[in-house]
Amino acid sequence: MAELRLTNALKFKRLDIIFFLFVSDLVFGKIHYSMREEMEPGAFVGNVAEDLALNIRRLSARKFRLLYANKRQCLEVNLETGILFASERIDREELCGQLPACVLSFEIVVEEPLEMYRGEVEILDINDNSPSFPESTILLQMAETMAPGSRFPLESALDPDMGTNTVTAYNISPNEHFGLKVETAEDGTQTVELLLEKPLDREQQSSFQLMLTATDGGSPSRSGTARILITVLDSNDNAPAFNNKVYKVSLMENSRRGTLVVSVHATDPDEGPNAEVTYSFSNRVSQKVQELFSLDPRTGEIRVQGILDYEEGNSYSVDVQAVDNGSPAIAGHSKVLIKVIDVNDNDPEIFLTSVASTVPEDAAPGTVTGLINVIDRDSGQNGQVYCGIPKNVPFKLQTSSSGHYKLVTSDLLDRETTPLYNIHILARDSGSPPLSTNKSIQISVSDVNDNAPRFARPMDTVYVMENSAPGASIFTVTAFDPDLDQNSYVTYSFTENLILDFPLSSYLNVNSKNGTIYALRSFDYEQVKNFQIQVQARDAGVPPLSSSATLNVIILDQNDNAPIIVSPSAQSGSAAVEIVPQSAAQGYLVTKIIATDSDSGQNARLSYRIVQSSDPTLFTVASNSGEIRTTRSMLEQDGTTHSLVISVRDNGQPTLSSTATIFFSILANVSEQISESSNLVSTPGYSFDLNLYLIAAFGSTSFIFLVTILLLVGVKCKQDRDSVSRSWSPVCCCRRRNSKDAFSRAHAPAGTLNYSGTGQNIPFPETYHYSVCLSPESSKSDFLFLKPCNPHLSQGQC
Ligand SMILES: *[C@@H]1O[C@H](CO)[C@@H](O)[C@H](O)[C@H]1NC(C)=O
Ligand SMILES: *[C@@H]1O[C@H](CO)[C@@H](O)[C@H](O)[C@H]1NC(C)=O
Repeated sequence: MAELRLTNALKFKRLDIIFFLFVSDLVFGKIHYSMREEMEPGAFVGNVAEDLALNIRRLSARKFRLLYANKRQCLEVNLETGILFASERIDREELCGQLPACVLSFEIVVEEPLEMYRGEVEILDINDNSPSFPESTILLQMAETMAPGSRFPLESALDPDMGTNTVTAYNISPNEHFGLKVETAEDGTQTVELLLEKPLDREQQSSFQLMLTATDGGSPSRSGTARILITVLDSNDNAPAFNNKVYKVSLMENSRRGTLVVSVHATDPDEGPNAEVTYSFSNRVSQKVQELFSLDPRTGEIRVQGILDYEEGNSYSVDVQAVDNGSPAIAGHSKVLIKVIDVNDNDPEIFLTSVASTVPEDAAPGTVTGLINVIDRDSGQNGQVYCGIPKNVPFKLQTSSSGHYKLVTSDLLDRETTPLYNIHILARDSGSPPLSTNKSIQISVSDVNDNAPRFARPMDTVYVMENSAPGASIFTVTAFDPDLDQNSYVTYSFTENLILDFPLSSYLNVNSKNGTIYALRSFDYEQVKNFQIQVQARDAGVPPLSSSATLNVIILDQNDNAPIIVSPSAQSGSAAVEIVPQSAAQGYLVTKIIATDSDSGQNARLSYRIVQSSDPTLFTVASNSGEIRTTRSMLEQDGTTHSLVISVRDNGQPTLSSTATIFFSILANVSEQISESSNLVSTPGYSFDLNLYLIAAFGSTSFIFLVTILLLVGVKCKQDRDSVSRSWSPVCCCRRRNSKDAFSRAHAPAGTLNYSGTGQNIPFPETYHYSVCLSPESSKSDFLFLKPCNPHLSQGQC
């Protein structure tokens, strides 16, 4: 094939040579050859000698030479054959670059005759080069927001070959987003651009790797490739998205500061700062919520930073947002619903709405003394409150409405027992554990005049010496009133006005303030032995209350009366005369001295003795009875008259005494009877013998008493002992008799003193009130002694 072409070419060249021969004188012709590049060395180009019609045998002789126009000597001529051949491999692109035609020019010189020919060899292109890109890897960055249709210029590929052997087509590896736009300029240069056909999304595909292929038109065609690495640059086209649309959390209301409530989290598919998320509360979130909760801008942790209170807010809806760091930034939103769970963290509170600090002691049960309000700020069970007070106070709580109580009295009050109540009110809720509060209130009970003054001794006995000095204080009564202030201010007065038919005020006076009783005059025992007075104590309340005490005033006897000798009475102002019969035997009762003493007791206990006697051997006087008896029979030598001076003394301190002088006439013929009668005659005040009278009187009296005592003592003694006084001695039993005397009507514990043995009260005295004392001594005695039975005396003294 190559041979064939060469032949054709040579035919043309011959025509050229002919043409040239006519053009120049020296230059006899010009020959033209063509050969393909890249032939092996020694490849045939043309037969020069033949073409120039030179004698081959004379080529050497004529000094055939080949002169090159350019330095490269890549052609040679075989002088023996005249054949032009390539001395080395010829690369058209190396030799001529991108010249459209590559021609090797030479001249052939021969001498003898000198002739010169021009020749040229055109080097023909073959597709021996592949297209190639300047960079094997093309790096491209494009924003993901780039609009479709955008173009990115690429460097075109190079192919040093010529014509169709150079680049004719570009291709890109199949992909969704990119295509190629190739434009060929008029001069044939091509510009290649990458065309964005479909929008990018970095979040879907952040990089592309494409293969760009350039193909030439050679046959076979050659191609070159380059990698295109496309990096999609992020743009902030995504909002941060929370992993929950709504976060629902529950939180105990007693959560401490710093407790993690919830951790919100948002993700942003963008990159870099566009994906850096900052959390914050939305602008709608109230100040209150922002005080209660904190939101960490970096971690998204919501923590408690204030003090939660279920009672102030039991749920919170918190709008949160996440903002990325792009420019402009985009925000994502979510909501946190926080439910606060009630905890029993509030003590019940007790409010004393109105509490009276005092309540009168006569307040009826049910009187309202205060209003109490109990509040618990918790809810549910935690806010259900029980309220109560102790049972040991006379108060109770009544529920009026939920949380409202009335404090009312539940019983009668008595200031004198309890003047002040300290009431503990306890309020306890039903939480678990329960919380409680207590409050104590003081309620004082105000005084009402409900107590009369009370005498320490409502019945008392006052002993007053007779003849005491007028104005002396004799007693003090005391009454106590447990009420307060004026209700307890006691004044004293007498209730009766008369004493012994005389105005009481002339005898006694009472100090109204302190109850001291004064005797205004001295008493005479012999006139008044006892009386009763009533002292009233009265407080100053409105209305006043009073009570009274009975005082039994007993006048004590003083020995202020001397014995009075009643019998024998002195006749005609001189001494008494008694007649004694001569025949009187020893022990003959001559007479009996009768004396009285208005005093009583020992003061009236008389004793008799002889202080002077004409004949001491003849008469004796019984010291107790006053009986004068003969000690022996009368003798002749005894005279007819005798005298005795008898002293009668009482037993008081000091003793008082009286004396009587008795004359005795001793008569021989007088019988005892006469003597007795004359004796009786001589005492006209008494129609009977006094001794007989006394014996009869005492006998009957004793009998009456004995009967009475035996009957009544047995029946009532025990009863009296119980009711009258416990201090009575076992052997003393006092009884009262009816009497005409007003003083004796009151039952005085002490009896009047009566000394019956003296005969003072003959006939039998009106004994107002006396005792019979049955003592061993008295039974032996001739006389029955009526003794005062004084409860203040000991048993032995009775
Ligand atoms: C009342 O409260 C006090 C302290 O506030 C407490 O010491 C006391 O025990 C309480 N009393 C009762 C009966 O709960
Ligand atoms: C009662 O008062 C009077 C006068 O003030 C006084 O002399 C007397 O001692 C008082 N009595 C008593 C028991 O204090």
